[in-house]
Amino acid sequence: MRNVLVTGGAGFIGSNFVRYLLQADTGVQIVNLDKLTYAGSLENLSDLPDPDRHIFVEGDILDSELVECLFRDHDIDMVVHFAAETHVDRSIFGPADFIQTNIIGTFTLLEAARKLWLTEELKPLEQVRFHHVSTDEVFGTLAPDDPAFAETTPYAPNSPYAASKASSDHLVRSYYHTYGLPVTISNCSNNYGPYQFPEKLIPLMILNALTGKPLPVYGDGKQIRDWLYVEDHCEAIWLVVEQGKPGETYNIGGNNQPVNLEVIGTICDILDEWLPASPNVPHDQLIQYVTDRPGHDRRYAMNIKKIEQELGWKPRESLSTGMQKTVRWYLDHPDWVTAVSDQSDYQSWIDKNYVERGEVE
Ligand code: NAD
Ligand code: DAU
Repeated sequence: MRNVLVTGGAGFIGSNFVRYLLQADTGVQIVNLDKLTYAGSLENLSDLPDPDRHIFVEGDILDSELVECLFRDHDIDMVVHFAAETHVDRSIFGPADFIQTNIIGTFTLLEAARKLWLTEELKPLEQVRFHHVSTDEVFGTLAPDDPAFAETTPYAPNSPYAASKASSDHLVRSYYHTYGLPVTISNCSNNYGPYQFPEKLIPLMILNALTGKPLPVYGDGKQIRDWLYVEDHCEAIWLVVEQGKPGETYNIGGNNQPVNLEVIGTICDILDEWLPASPNVPHDQLIQYVTDRPGHDRRYAMNIKKIEQELGWKPRESLSTGMQKTVRWYLDHPDWVTAVSDQSDYQSWIDKNYVERGEVE
């Protein structure tokens, strides 16, 4: 039995990862440390398979005493670190929380691992692993003909969010080179799927389209992201944790690189087909162009040859199959949607972000 500390496991990808570990035949015991910020919810952890293998702890990764206690009390031999502030637009309005959680929080976890695994030698070094979940946004933006981001692409983050993640990646790397802490890092592209908080593009568009609200497109809508279905990401992370080489980074991506307008069009087409009697058909009539995001990265694309060749991973879902599963999930979970969007923070965020961008309704 291995004991995994998952941070941020009440958020979108973290909760899908917890589910993945409990469903798959991994045999691990999970301690899930999450602060339950606006982005985290216990609703994301309802009906877990095999719940006896999961313990939830509400707390902050910045709380070094708590983190150290969890390492000791639960005999932790693996950390899979998701906890972060993750929304680029929020980082533009207020970067302070991003610096605290993403940089100092990662540092706090690394220090706990260094103390307990390296100084106190609580565990044999070959049995421990610190895995840091990061993003493709650390690489900056691509021009139309640039090759996709590889693991060797120099970092060039353009938003406070991306800069805070880049900083945390550098810290993690340094703990391997300086102290010999067995770390791995994965840099992944845009995820979508069940339990994604509806401030991000895909769930926001699904829910706005369902309720006849405007679909706010930043700028000209021709920005490109590399979309990956969240369960594919979870599978890739676990493979890196189990089989990745300490000190290495792995790019993870979806091989799906449509412009934003095409993503929104796909959602509208699915809803037109599945809900032909809706008064909002055709749903793409709801598209509304709004003021662009400052410093908006134009294009991301991931070169995933390393993880394909070394670990044998590739994404299972296409954008079409993944999007159908995602839209179906949001249609089938109105209680979850109500619970997360009824929070006062959510409505005030929507008002702040979209009123300032000049959305009409
Ligand atoms: P999310 O915003 O949905 O969830 C973040 C979780 O972290 C929440 O449950 C929140 O409560 C928790 N958290 C925040 N601050 C905390 C703190 N100080 N202490 C403890 N818990 C805290 O995020 P997500 O989209 O699931 O992303 C998870 C990780 O994956 C992040 O590190 C993000 O940078 C990375 N990532 C995300 C994507 C994506 O498309 N969503 C893509 C690549 C990488
Ligand atoms: O690339 C990985 C990153 O993907 C993760 O590291 C981040 O945590 C995650 O939030 C995501 O960042 P993006 O900024 O790419 O995701 P977002 O869903 O906010 O926006 C996706 C694209 O859609 C982007 O080009 C901005 C655009 N957009 C977004 C919103 C919310 C719109 O046009 N309208 C919107 O209302």
